[in-house]
Amino acid sequence: MRRLLTFARGSRLPTYKSEEEQAGLRAAGRFNAQLLDFLRDKVAVGVTTNQLDRLAEEYTRGHGHIPACYGYQGFPKSICTSINEVVCHGIPNDRPLRDGDIVNLDCTTIVDGWYGDSSETFLVGQVSPDALRIVQLAFDSLWIGIQALTPYCSVIDIGTAIARYGRQMNVGIVENFQGHGIGRKFHQDPGIPHVPIRKSRKDLLVPGVCFTIEPMVNLGKKETDGPLSDGWTILTKDRSLTAQFEHQILMTEDGPEILTLTQNGPKPGHRF
Ligand code: MF3
Ligand code: CO
Ligand code: CO
Repeated sequence: MRRLLTFARGSRLPTYKSEEEQAGLRAAGRFNAQLLDFLRDKVAVGVTTNQLDRLAEEYTRGHGHIPACYGYQGFPKSICTSINEVVCHGIPNDRPLRDGDIVNLDCTTIVDGWYGDSSETFLVGQVSPDALRIVQLAFDSLWIGIQALTPYCSVIDIGTAIARYGRQMNVGIVENFQGHGIGRKFHQDPGIPHVPIRKSRKDLLVPGVCFTIEPMVNLGKKETDGPLSDGWTILTKDRSLTAQFEHQILMTEDGPEILTLTQNGPKPGHRF
């Protein structure tokens, strides 16, 4: 039964997905998670991000799907690979991964017209205590955002929870890039800031809304720099280490359903 609700005046109801549309999004999220699981054991010292990109593209096309990043606003590769002080949108290249690097692989796939989008930060070899700490805090920030979700909650609840955690832990929660609604388009309303932004109060996560949470967490200050002359790469302004995790989530009457859960990836509560 659908609950009868009176919404506060002026609240914004984002695009609601029908059952059939939700099935399309579930399939896209599931495949995207499968792709991350496929890439997981390929991340190693000496491997280049171009090699990972090629593997991701072949796996995706081999399953009859489309790498969404390829050609998106001119992005030249199939996945984003963001190493160490790169906040997001790193472009795969021929630099081999080094012992001690942390690298975020952000994968997005189009499955039968529906977008799947999720990312993880991976540890390469033996990493420093600082690197371990920021990866842990980024992972925990994502789950703190997820735990703030209840049916009909407001988007601002996500940012409130994550920003509070960031203050407690004395890390920088990036404000210049946000999560987003997702569907037949890569990025759609509502924007999902990871800090409380007043205008998000009116965006309600009613059942049927699909969106991402993807906090970028800096060991130093929250400010970012870039893009570089490649048009994409975003760095921390203070060049501190940064990490990110992303899940795609469907709000349901029973609470959040995470569409991009992996088989072999870190589970909530995981210690890196
Ligand atoms: N996957 C990113 C996100 O989470 C977007 C990457 S856009 C690209 O929204 F063009 F850089 F691929
Ligand atoms: Co993404
Ligand atoms: Co995203």
